[in-house]
Amino acid sequence: MRLRYVLGQYEYLQQHEKAITEPEKRDYKLNDVFKNQNPIHVELGCGKGKFLRETAIKNPNINYFGFEKSVKVAYRCAKSVFENDPDNYYIVYSNGDILEEVFENKSIERIYLNFSDPWPKPSHYKRRLTHKNFLHVYKKVLTHNGEIHMKTDNNDLFEYSLEQLKEDDWNLLLVTRDLHNSPYIKDNVMTEYEEKFVEEGRKINKLIAQIKI
Ligand SMILES: C[S@@+](CC[C@H](N)C(=O)[O-])C[C@H]1O[C@@H](n2cnc3c(N)ncnc32)[C@H](O)[C@@H]1O
Repeated sequence: MRLRYVLGQYEYLQQHEKAITEPEKRDYKLNDVFKNQNPIHVELGCGKGKFLRETAIKNPNINYFGFEKSVKVAYRCAKSVFENDPDNYYIVYSNGDILEEVFENKSIERIYLNFSDPWPKPSHYKRRLTHKNFLHVYKKVLTHNGEIHMKTDNNDLFEYSLEQLKEDDWNLLLVTRDLHNSPYIKDNVMTEYEEKFVEEGRKINKLIAQIKI
C-alpha cells in the first residue's frame, strides 16, 4: 500500500517525544538518550513499528531504537504510538547506515533486520542490509557477543545473507526456512509484513548470527 504524503510529516517527527530526527547532528550519542545502562537493541527498517513497540512492551529492561528511513513510514510509526507506551523505545527517522556515527563502539547487543528491502538487482546488492560492508559496521557497534536477528520471506536475500555471514566469519546460532512450523516460533513477535505473508501462506526464514569471540 502506498502511503500518502501529509504536509508537515517531518515537522511532526521533529516535535514527537518518541521520535529522533538527524541523530548524526546531535552532540551526544544515542546511547545517552536513555538514562540507564540497560542493553540496547536496534531494529533497522522498523516500518510502522508494530514489532518495535510490542517487543519493547515485552522487555521493559531493554532499550530499543527503531530506524526508519522513509519519512512517510516513520510518520505513520510515530502516529501509532499510544499514550501509555513504555519509555524504553524511540523511533529514529534516519537511514540505518549511520550506526557507527551515532552509537558508541561495542554498545549494541542486538540488531534486528525484519523483512529488509530485498534489492534484487545485483547492481544494488550493496544496499542490502546484510552486504559485507554493513556486516563490518555491525561488528564495530555490536558488543563482543552481539547478535543479528533476521527474518525474511525472500529466499534469495536469505541465502545471500547466509553466504555473506559465513564469508565474514559469523557464528550461525539459528537457521530455519520455515519459522512458523519450527520450535523457534515460541515468543515470536510478528511484524506487519510477517502478518501479511503468513496470511498468504508464505514461509518465513529466520537466522540468528553472532560475532565469533
Ligand atoms: C519491507 S519494509 C518492512 C517493515 C517492517 N520491518 C516489517 O517487517 O513489517 C522495509 C522498511 O525498511 C525501511 N528501510 C529500508 N532500508 C533502510 C535503511 N537502510 N535504514 C532505515 N530504514 C530502511 C524501508 O523504508 C521500509 O519501511
